[in-house]
Parts: sequence; C-alpha cells; structure tokens
Amino acid sequence: MKPASLISKLFAAKGKGEFTCPEKDKLPRHIAFIMDGNGRWAKRRGLPRSAGHAAGTEALRELIRTVSDIGIESMSIYAFSTENWNRPEEEVQALMKLITRYFVSEIDELIEKNVHITIMGELDAFPEEQKTALVQAMERTKANTGLKLNIALNYGGRAEIVRAARLLAEKCASGEMKPGDIDMDALSEGMYTAGQPDVDLLIRTGGDERISNFLLWQGWYAELIFEKVFWPDYNKQKLFEDLNIYASRDRRFGRVKAQ
Ligand code: IPE
Ligand code: IPE
Ligand code: MG
Repeated sequence: MKPASLISKLFAAKGKGEFTCPEKDKLPRHIAFIMDGNGRWAKRRGLPRSAGHAAGTEALRELIRTVSDIGIESMSIYAFSTENWNRPEEEVQALMKLITRYFVSEIDELIEKNVHITIMGELDAFPEEQKTALVQAMERTKANTGLKLNIALNYGGRAEIVRAARLLAEKCASGEMKPGDIDMDALSEGMYTAGQPDVDLLIRTGGDERISNFLLWQGWYAELIFEKVFWPDYNKQKLFEDLNIYASRDRRFGRVKAQ
C-alpha cells in the first residue's frame, strides 16, 4: 500500500476510534518503549507517585501480551535508568518492590507465552532479593524462542556503550581479537541486545520529546513516536494506532526516496 493511502486509512480509523494491527510485513522487528508519565498520572488523581508506577505495570502486562501475540521479534522497555537512583529514597524503594513483585507474579505467564527475558543493566547494584528474582527470570526463560523481551533496569545507553568497548578491549588484551577487527558488528555484539535487530520503532509516552539515555546505539535509525498520554493510559488501541503510523513512515536510511 502506498504511504498516501495508508495515511487516509489512518485518518478514517482515528475518526472511528478503531485501529487494527497492520500486516506482519509492515510491523517493526524491534519495538522499544520509554514508559514515562507514571508520576504525573498519579498526581492528577491526588495519589502518591508509587500508585502511578503500580498502574504502569498493569499497562505493561497488557502490552507484552499484545506484542507477543502479534509476532514482533523484540521488545525493549525502559523501567529504571542509571539516573533514576537520584529520585527520593522512598520512591526508589517502592519501585524496587514493584519490580520484584512483577517478576514473581508474571513469570509463569511469560514462560507459557514462550517469552525470552534479558535484563539490560548492571544487576549488582540491586538488593539481593531483587537480584535473585531478576537472575531467575532470565534463567527460567533462556531456552524460550518467542518474543525477546529486554527489560532495562539500572540501564544507561552510554554505560552500555562503555561496557561494550571494555569487552572488546579485554578481547584485544587477551589476544582473542585485534584492534583492527573492531567494527560496528563487533560493537553490536557487545550490547545487551546482541543478536537482535536494531530498534525500528521507539515510542515514548508522557509528552516529553527526548531519548533520556535509552538504546543510543541500537536506535540509530529508529522511527520515533512521542505520545501525550501517560504510561498507565497506554493500551492496545494506542499501540495499534502507533503501529499504523510506523507503517506509513518512509524510512530512507540516508538514501533518496524510492520513486
Ligand atoms: C516513568 O514515570 C517510570 C520511571 C521513570 C521509573 P515517571 O516516574 O518518570 O513519571 P513522571 O515522568 O514523573 O510523570
Ligand atoms: C526515562 O524517564 C526513564 C524511564 C522511563 C525508566 P525519566 O522520567 O527518568 O526521564 P527524564 O528525566 O524525563 O528525561
Ligand atoms: Mg518521567
């Protein structure tokens, strides 16, 4: 379908408030989410920020189910950044509890859905109980062949690039590779997402239009969509709307437009 007719289809669907999932070959292979706006969602309701984070995990549950069902290969979600440690102690504690509870309560369904979990981020910074839950989630899903779910926890895009550079430096020091062998593929293999496609579509909720240190390497040619809704209000309908927008985009990768 030509982009112009896709756009008119988009407008028609918006009028009816109804979107269907685009054809499989129009879907991104790797979709990423900056799940922002939990705090403001709660504040609007006169609730503590932690209530926003709790509501955010409900939205996440529905979304993982949908993304897995429609057959997208990889999904990355930003759950806690290296900079989020600078939040008030009470909020950090509430988030840690929520993250552990989430893994404990969801893991069986994720296993049943054949989801493969990767935690992106330095796990040693987490309290023992959280760390155990995270390591177990990776262990128990490592043989799964369905959706690759990358969860960014204590994650920073710059820290990830530094980590990959260090891995390559170690290989050079041990003689396993030579500095001249370092290329983009080698660096990609040093990322948490090794073996997965680069990010095709990055969606940020909450109204701010920035990357906030997420997937700086993998997102080099990602299509960006900034949603006004706060994360707890993001749902399957919104996702289908965004997937239709993505399908209508002209991705050129530096080339001229195809005639
Ligand atoms: C995103 O929501 C979740 C995390 C960063 C953990 P926020 O907590 O940033 O919510 P806002 O942006 O303050 O509304
Ligand atoms: C990005 O949101 C991090 C996560 C969603 C986990 P932030 O709320 O931390 O980002 P800034 O501070 O608005 O850039
Ligand atoms: Mg925020």
